[in-house]
Amino acid sequence: AGNVELKHADWSFEAPFGTFDRSQLRRGYKVYKEVCAACHSMDLVKFRNLAEEGGPEFSEAQVKALAAEYEIEDGPDEYGDMFMRAREPKDPMPAPFANENAARAANGGAYPPDFSVIVKARSGGADYIYSLLTGYEEPPQGFPMSPGMNYNAYFGGHQIAMANPLFDEIVEYEDGTPMTVDQYARDVAAFLTWASEPKLEARHQLGFQVMVFLAVLAGLLYFAGRKLWADKH
Ligand code: HEM
Repeated sequence: AGNVELKHADWSFEAPFGTFDRSQLRRGYKVYKEVCAACHSMDLVKFRNLAEEGGPEFSEAQVKALAAEYEIEDGPDEYGDMFMRAREPKDPMPAPFANENAARAANGGAYPPDFSVIVKARSGGADYIYSLLTGYEEPPQGFPMSPGMNYNAYFGGHQIAMANPLFDEIVEYEDGTPMTVDQYARDVAAFLTWASEPKLEARHQLGFQVMVFLAVLAGLLYFAGRKLWADKH
């Protein structure tokens, strides 16, 4: 991250017992799929994860259909040949490039990092992703820009190889949510947070149970203590 203070969005998942907004995660997946996936892989995320509890919670049938939009190489078959088949829920998200070299070659030498744990890998988490995606602007007068780079206040050095990927209305939302850069940035940041921490809700829930347990225990100890130390006249 750059040395600029990040913009903060109100995240449904940030409070101690916060949860993900399912609709937001589904919209975020759509933004990832239609925009970011052209350059960024997400190797550790399998299609079936999209149906799991605590995430976007697409139905099994929806996940099957989402996976089947892509092919994957499989094999060898009984003749020793590799073949292509439709992806299934057990398969990972498709990667846009064969490897890092191919990714760099297509991006002017820069590497679009894998998204599997990006929210954990950068300080600032969801706020950083949100700020970065809404942080493209004209460079200040006299700022020395390198060729092919884009000015972004929130990226270290303020020059990033990634061109501004989001524009109003580029992703179609069907639930009436505003189709703006600001909203897309929030939604994809939430989705990437889930991808980096799919057990966030379970962790928050456990925290809640521990608090209840401690409250009950404190109550019991209080009354036990009173009884034990009560004056016996
Ligand atoms: C870097 C997010 C779309 C190419 C990054 C980084 C993030 C990010 C978080 C890492 C910044 C850092 O290192 O701190 C996104 C999101 C996208 C998106 C959420 C969709 C909304 C794209 C697209 C392309 C692309 C479509 C290619 C056309 C790159 C490249 C870098 C990068 C080349 C490395 C930049 C550098 O090191 O200078 N992106 N990206 N990204 N992205 Fe994207």
